[in-house]
This record gives sequence, C-alpha cells and structure tokens, in this order.
Amino acid sequence: MAAIEIKPAEGKLGVLMVGLGAVSTTFVAGVEAAKKNLRSPIGSLTQMGRIRLGKRTENRNPFIKDFVPLTDINDIVYGAWDIFPDNGYEAACKAGVIPRDLLDQIKDDLSALTPMKAVYDKNYCRKLEATHFKNAPSKMELAEAVMKDIEDFRSKNNCDRLTMIWCASTEAFNALSDVHSNLKSFEEGLRNNDPAISPSMIYAYAALKCRVGYANGAPNLTTDCPALLELAQEMGTPVSGKDFKTGQTLMKTIIAPGLAARYVGISGWFSTNILGNRDGEVLDAPENFKTKEESKLSVLDEILQPELNPELYKDLYHKVRIEYYPPRRDNKEGWDNIDLVGWLGMPMQLKVNFLCRDSILAAPLVLDLVLFMDLAHRAGLKGIQEWLSFYYKAPMVKKDLSPIHNLFHQEIKLQNTLRYLMGEEQITFLGLDYYKSA
Ligand SMILES: NC(=O)c1ccc[n+]([C@@H]2O[C@H](COP(=O)([O-])OP(=O)(O)OC[C@H]3O[C@@H](n4cnc5c(N)ncnc54)[C@H](O)[C@@H]3O)[C@@H](O)[C@H]2O)c1
Repeated sequence: MAAIEIKPAEGKLGVLMVGLGAVSTTFVAGVEAAKKNLRSPIGSLTQMGRIRLGKRTENRNPFIKDFVPLTDINDIVYGAWDIFPDNGYEAACKAGVIPRDLLDQIKDDLSALTPMKAVYDKNYCRKLEATHFKNAPSKMELAEAVMKDIEDFRSKNNCDRLTMIWCASTEAFNALSDVHSNLKSFEEGLRNNDPAISPSMIYAYAALKCRVGYANGAPNLTTDCPALLELAQEMGTPVSGKDFKTGQTLMKTIIAPGLAARYVGISGWFSTNILGNRDGEVLDAPENFKTKEESKLSVLDEILQPELNPELYKDLYHKVRIEYYPPRRDNKEGWDNIDLVGWLGMPMQLKVNFLCRDSILAAPLVLDLVLFMDLAHRAGLKGIQEWLSFYYKAPMVKKDLSPIHNLFHQEIKLQNTLRYLMGEEQITFLGLDYYKSA
C-alpha cells in the first residue's frame, strides 16, 4: 500500500484558541511543563501512545509521534481570543486547576499569552458580562477583523502553519436554518447580521477563509452546517467536532459497548454531575445546557441500536443532568446509575462515581486534536475528519451517515487512518493466518 504524500512538519505551528479559560490554560500549562520536563504529557496519544504495525509476531509498536510526521511540541506557538482581557496566567489562577508549585514554574509562558478581542453576542452566552470584544457594524466585518487577527498572528510569530480550536463557553442552542444551508446564504447572513449566525460560526468562517483548520471542543453547531462544510471543501481545509469527550460521556462510551457486546439489557441510565467552574456556570442557563444535553444524549442510541435490539433497549430511559455547584470548581463529580436486565429478566444495577478533573481530562485532547488536525491538513485531508471521532461526544459525520460512538471502534478508526496515511496494512484482528501453517 502506498503512503499518502504528507508535507513535512517544518517550522512553527500556531495554535489559535478561541477562549482562554480552564481548558486552554491547562493545555498550555501541560505542554510547557512537558517541554521543561516538569511533567509527562499523560493522556495524550500523540505524545505517549504507540501503534501496532503488521502482524503480532513482528513486535513493531512504535510511538505514534515517531510513526507519523507530527509537529514537535517545541514548535508550537499559542494565540487566543477571550471576552475578558486576563492573560493566560491570570486566567489560569482564576480557573484554579493547575497546582501552585507548577504554576509558578510556567508563569512567564502563561503571562505572555494575552487574548485578542473576542467576537461576542450576548444572545449566545447570557451568563457572562463580556468586557473585551470587537465592535463592528456587521458580522461580516467581525469575520474580517478575525481574519486580520489570524494573518497578523501568522506573520508576527513567523508561523508556517496554523490551526484553530474552540475552547470557549458552550453557546446557546442554535438550530440549523436557511442561512446555514449554503455558503452564499451564509455570506449574505453575515452582511445582514442574521441572528442565527453565532460567534463560533464567525470565527470558523474566518479560519476557513484563511485556510486554517477548525476543531470544535464544544457542542455548538459551528462548522456542522452545509455552508461552512462547503467552505471547508472549497478551501481544502479540515474541520472536526463536536464537544470534547472527557468525563461521564467517555465512561459511557467505554461501559455501554461492553454491556451491549454481552447483550445485557438496559432499562435506565441516569447521569448527573456537579461542577463549579465557569463552564458549569454557563451551562446553568437552560438554553446553553440544551446544546450540551443534545450532545450527551446522542451516544447511547448508536452504541445500543434499540431499533435492532428492541427487547433489550427500546424502553431505555436516558437522562442527563449538570448541576452548577461552585464549591467543587473544576473538580467535577459524576454519578451514573445504570439499571440492567439480565438472564431470566432479572434486574441488576451498576453505579459509577467518577471524581474527575474536567480540564485535566480535556487538555491532552486539545494537544492531540491540534497536532492531528495539522497532520490532516498537511496530508491534504479536507472537510470532516471523522477519524477524530475518538475525541468527541457528538462526532461530525457526512450527511446521512450515523456517527460512531463506541470508543474502541473510534480508536481502531483513528489507528487505521494513521496506518493508511503511512502506507501500512490495516489491522482487522482476524488472525487466522497465524494458525494456517501449524
Ligand atoms: N473540560 C471538559 O472536560 C470539557 C469537555 C467537553 C467540552 N468542554 C467545553 O470546552 C469549553 C471550554 O471549557 P472550560 O472549562 O475551559 O470553560 P471556561 O469557562 O473556563 O473557559 C471558556 C472561556 O471562553 C471565553 N469565551 C466565552 N465566549 C467567548 C467568545 N465568544 N469568544 C472568545 N472567548 C469566549 C470565556 O470568557 C472563558 O474564558 C466549554 O464549551 C466546555 O463546555 C469542556
């Protein structure tokens, strides 16, 4: 199998983060700590992961970063926008995620990161009183201002390549409408200030116009609309999303495939969380939670396929709650109660209590996503990058295609994509050939 031609990862990669809050600052802190050998980049596939190549008997298991041409973390430079003027250090202190001793050692790196003025629309984020945002008569002019930010950043930092990632607050629910149906209507909507064009869509439009890939860490629609997918194709730019798969949903997509594989019935799955960071505060607004709820609810249906297994899953009652509870800050606690049905129709229960740290789980995903999005771009992959579903709660897929939520299927898809890019054989786990010569 011939390898795909991939441009080398030479020069600097600019990582443009929309939102400089808990996740972004924890990501920067972890990368800088890894560069200084203060901490290992635990949880990052690109930094710590290996990939099996060829037959099991070959014992070829290189590190992913040695197998595919990824940007070295020493070549990353950061840029950000936020609706508040706090620099990275101030924002990290407010988020309260990074331990003080480490924070002191990377203070200069974080302090150097000052956000650019944001694109802000109160209708999409009622809970926060923004103080640091752009003013322009039309949404098109706001997009042009973001394009200028991007190009200024590129030249000032002497970047060879750029990639953008949404790490800002979840926007209020936004349904697809006519303005999103094609690029022409969308651009018309930008000029006419159509209310259905959200800030995240303005950033994404600007990124794609500048041929910068766009990854979406929140459940907002953003590039998951025909207009922006058309633009991504036109500009030859990759996009991926939506919503980092970190705590409770990560566990759900680990546990549910196991139960489904053994044909254990599930009559109910109740998930609740307490969370006290700014993300939790924004999600306390019903219109913002609705965006998140849709993303969190979607996973079980695809994994359990109730239409194919009605006796086991048709009546499953699935409920997800997030409660804003300030004392816990970023240390989210999640509870899951799963009501199971087994042999002879006997009921059983499984309880999961996950005491996690939200941004600690999300930060390595940011690193992997920006490096893989850059790889995709250099490999000429454009439009939706479904192979990155591994990282998302609500993976973007082509129209009429159902997303894959099972974490293990997502992992195989990601690894096989890397093998495909490098001209290595796909691994099917059939393995009959090991026994043929015996
Ligand atoms: N941490 C996780 O495990 C996790 C998992 C899935 C998704 N997410 C999503 O990631 C995003 C970031 O999470 P976080 O914990 O860092 O939140 P956060 O509130 O700490 O940071 C978000 C930042 O975005 C800024 N912001 C809001 N609107 C903006 C705009 N229009 N332009 C620029 N900046 C804007 C806010 O001021 C804030 O500083 C949220 O949408 C969250 O739902 C997080």
